[in-house]
Formats: sequence, C-alpha cells, structure tokens
Amino acid sequence: MERIKIFDTTLRDGEQSPGVSLIPEEKLLIAKQLARLKVDVIEAGFPISSQGDFQAVKTIAEKVRDVEIAGLARANIKDIDRAWEALKAGENPRIHVFIATSPIHMKYKLKMTEEEVLERAVKAVKYAARYTSNIEFSAEDASRSELEFLYRLFTEVIKAGARVINIPDTVGYAIPEEFGRMVRNIKENVDNIDQAELSVHCHNDLGLAVANSLAAIENGANQIEVAVNGIGERAGNTALEELIMTLVTRKDYYNLSISQDTTQIMRLSKMVSSFTGMPVQPNKAIVGENAFAHESGIHQDGVIKERTTYEIMDAKSIGLKENSLVLGKHSGRHALRDFISKLGYELDEESFEEVFVKFKDLADKKKKLRSVDIEALINNQLYSKDAVYELEYVSVSTGNTVLPTATIKLRRDQDIIEKAACSGDGPIDAIFQAINEIVAVDNIELISYKIDAITEGTDALGEVIVKVKINDKTYTGHSAQTDITYASTLAYLEAINKYMTETLCKNNNTVKV
Ligand code: KIV
Ligand code: ZN
Repeated sequence: MERIKIFDTTLRDGEQSPGVSLIPEEKLLIAKQLARLKVDVIEAGFPISSQGDFQAVKTIAEKVRDVEIAGLARANIKDIDRAWEALKAGENPRIHVFIATSPIHMKYKLKMTEEEVLERAVKAVKYAARYTSNIEFSAEDASRSELEFLYRLFTEVIKAGARVINIPDTVGYAIPEEFGRMVRNIKENVDNIDQAELSVHCHNDLGLAVANSLAAIENGANQIEVAVNGIGERAGNTALEELIMTLVTRKDYYNLSISQDTTQIMRLSKMVSSFTGMPVQPNKAIVGENAFAHESGIHQDGVIKERTTYEIMDAKSIGLKENSLVLGKHSGRHALRDFISKLGYELDEESFEEVFVKFKDLADKKKKLRSVDIEALINNQLYSKDAVYELEYVSVSTGNTVLPTATIKLRRDQDIIEKAACSGDGPIDAIFQAINEIVAVDNIELISYKIDAITEGTDALGEVIVKVKINDKTYTGHSAQTDITYASTLAYLEAINKYMTETLCKNNNTVKV
C-alpha cells in the first residue's frame, strides 16, 4: 500500500497568519505535540527571517526527535547558510529552498526571466547539497506557472540534488480536477521525477485546499503540506486534521497508508488555537466544538441506538473523549509525575514543583482533575519563568452600583509597583488600565479578548485569550484559571511580557515570505 507523508508547516506558514506571533517556547511545545502525532516532517520556521525564528528552528532541531525538521530558505546562499546553521543538529534535517516560477511573480516580484530563475534555482539546490541530500525544492505559485517551464526546472533541480519537488498553489487559485491534472502532467513529463518525492502545498482562498490536496494524491503526490486548524497566510493552508481524517475515514476509497496517531489531533488543535489566539469555528470539520454534537432529537435517538447512524468517525479516534485518568486532592507527587509523563510532557524539577503547588491549589477547588486541567497548569507555567513583570496581587471590586476598580501589584526584579484604576467599562477593563499604568508602554491597543470554559461545571477552568497590538505587532497571552478575573490579569500580563522580552532582546528584523 502506498504511503503518504504528512509535512506540517504550522510553525512556518501557519505562523504567517495575520496577527500571529509565537514565542520559541510555544513553538517547541507545538513541535513536540506534532512529533507525538507522528507527522513525517515539521517545517519549524524560516531561519533567516528573524533571530527568534532562527533560535526556534535550532531548538526544535536539537530537541525534537524521530521526525524530519525542515527550515525554509529563499534560493540564495545567505538563506541556505542560515537555514543549515539552525538545522544541522537535527536527526534528519531538510533544507526547503523556494523560488517563484509564475510569469506574474517573475515579472513583477523577482524581475527575472525564466532562464535566470532556472539558473538561480539550480545554483541554490547545488549549494544546499553541500550540506545535505535532504533537499526540498518549491516552485512558488506553481499553479499559475507555465507547465513546460516547470518540467524543465524540475528536471534540472532534481539533477542538482533536490529529493522532494513541491508544487504550491500559493494563492489558492486551483480547482481540484485541474490541479490533479497538473500533478499528473508533472509526474509524466519530468523524466527524472522517480528520483524525487512529489509534494503539494495548497492554500485555501477558495475553500478548496483539502480538495486540491486530495486530487493531488489521486494523481500521484506522495507528500502533502498541511497546517493545524488550517491556519496560514490569508485563508490558510490545507487543514492537517481534515486531510488526515479523510484518509483514515475513507481508507476504503483511497487505500493509502499514513503513520499518524490521530488520537493526538484534538490536543494539538487546542494547543495551536490557544497559543496563536486563533479560535476554531464551532462548525469546523473534525475539531470544531459541534463536530461531534447532535442537536436534533432524531439524530440523538439514532446515535444512542447505534453511533454510526450519524457519526462517520468516533470522537475517541481524534482524542476527544476524555481518557479515564483523573487526579484529585489526595494524589501525590508520584501520581502527578506519572500523569504528566503519560500526557507526553517532560518537566524539569523546578517546573514540576511549581506545577505541583498549583495542582494542589486547584485540586482544593475542583474535585476531579483531568488531562485538560493538568495541561492548562503546565501551559500556564510556560511563561512565568522569564517574565519581566510578575503578578504579586490583584483585587477587583465591582457591582451594579459601584464603579469597577482594580488594584494591581507587579514585581519587576526587586521593585514592587502598585496601581489602582477604575473604569466605566467594567472590571476587566479596570485591570488592564491598572497594568497599563504600571508598565507604561506606549500604544497598547487591545485587539481581542476571548473567554471560554475548557472544562464543564461551575468549577470549570476558564481560559482567557488576549491579543494586544503594540507598535503594529500583535502579542497573544492566555491563561486558564477557575477565577476569570485572575485569568484575564495573567493573560494580559503575558502578552505584555512577550513584548517586553522581545524589546529587551532586540530581535525585530522580521522578513515574511
Ligand atoms: O505558499 C507557498 O508557495 C509557500 C512556499 C514557500 C512553499 O508557502
Ligand atoms: Zn504557503
């Protein structure tokens, strides 16, 4: 049975979603979860684009095993050197070289002729081949490129050492039948194509990314590039969960094998949504809140009698149904450590102790703690270590006859600063105003504030996701607590701390593809 490789670009193309900016710690956690799901390749970033991206790719290459790690590079020496520098510690690093090939991109963007593009591409692949044989070559905007030119170009880059040929539908313009035909044509007209794997990378501008990827599979593609929750430039990329679950659910039709552990999908989807601050729409296929919910009486009755009457997938297969593991206030260090390691996290002693203290605190408020609760504690923990400002104290008074007032105490190194603020717009606004007065950062604009219960019941953990814009860049903060005013304070502070850390590190020279 033929095997399809899954190449995940959440950390590169996904991070190019408007208003998304992940910090290295978040990228590492997502990469580890992608590895648990057993994707074949993780595109960890675009190392030349910023110091932060370089560092994230390097850390992921060093720490995430049993999966190929790729880094993106334009077809030039500087990009390739930088990509290799970041990737070289990886187990099986891949340099992903790209250049645009459509008439419109060559004329207006590159100002280069076909011959010049071909020469640049071959030179770049040969250069990359000095470092590794694991080279992927992408013809940006391939779906609007001349086929004859692509045949020539692909033949030459394969001769130069490319081992994966990627056909991007960069602007999401393709139609499934047409795109499938294009893949077939390339397979049939590039003489040495059997020396390379054939990949596609589809954007979702017309809502056809998954359909185009499936058409490509039917016509000979054996690697599909995807992003979790379908995030990415503009309307996003082929959604990882939709592509994988289609191949699994309709194995009878495609008869293809993939090696992913689908039970990790839900956790990955939630993680990406929290860290990016991009909510998943309720009716989103596979991972939307309603994807396994039945509202109509007839449907509910059918599902109770026999699940498969109205469900083509089992919620358990994407990890949606809670496993039976629970912890409570009598659980000790050993049980928590065991629970955390079963979830797939590795914490150093110091972080474990901090999580343990918070676990005991939460267990006093909530009877049964499940994996989502423990994950929320671990994720809360992520930022507290290097925070510029730490929360010492928050107090809010509010009601229908008083002006909401918040008092906040923050610590910065040895200094403790206290401020109070009132706001006619409610207690959360008062908290944010008080924090603004302490941190004194100019131009902070609140872009979005979202609150969600991540577990059920009145003792549920409420997750708050806050996005702020500072000097035209977006920073996301999130926190899950039983008290939503506390969660809001921590989430807002986290977003500001990300800005503070970045400003202190001065790593702002971002180049996006
Ligand atoms: O959409 C695109 O063309 C890309 C390439 C860099 C692969 O993201
Ligand atoms: Zn793309």
